[in-house]
Amino acid sequence: MSETTSQIATAGSPEADILAALGARPIVLVGMMGAGKSTIGRRLAARLRLPFTDADTEIETAAGMTIPEIFEVHGEQHFRDGEARVIARLLDGGPGVLATGGGSFMREETRRRIGDKAVSIWLKADTEIIMKRVKRRTDRPLLQTEDPVATVNRLLAEREPVYAKADLTIASRDVPHDRIVDEVIAALHARLCGSDAVTSQVSGVQ
Ligand code: S3P
Repeated sequence: MSETTSQIATAGSPEADILAALGARPIVLVGMMGAGKSTIGRRLAARLRLPFTDADTEIETAAGMTIPEIFEVHGEQHFRDGEARVIARLLDGGPGVLATGGGSFMREETRRRIGDKAVSIWLKADTEIIMKRVKRRTDRPLLQTEDPVATVNRLLAEREPVYAKADLTIASRDVPHDRIVDEVIAALHARLCGSDAVTSQVSGVQ
């Protein structure tokens, strides 16, 4: 057993407290493309020894197509409807860490479901970080525009007030991933278990 694993197994550790407080609720990561939802989500799940699920991957599996193909063949509205259905199903899957696609939290119905059934965390990233992470990739149809920076800025202006409705906000930035995971654990512990072990990068919303 690794040191980390033995720490997690220790009753009374922050991780054990969080698991007990979560009960059947999943942790849902929301935020923009490139905010690190999948990367951080995977590491967070490993720390808590919970299964990790990526909603985009589940949508692709359900459709038998990639996301760019779904957008191209059926259009964005069709993708959004499928996305809402897939996330609704995943929210009933019990404890776990779920990374959601950047547009999914914009749908009121999905937000309500997440609010009812999960604990949500907004990974908040600025344009510079987002562009650094997405610029060489072609798998985000919404960013295949003449001016991707302007597109990201427009999406951020539309979406940030909505992402801010998540239960917790963590600043996603260029620091080691484990540091962000530590902050997520501290914020979850503070929120769910009433500890005040929060740092300046962490803020509870609501
Ligand atoms: C989208 C984000 C993508 C994917 C789709 C649309 C968005 O997911 O769902 O390309 O509207 O922001 P990621 O946030 O995982 O990149």
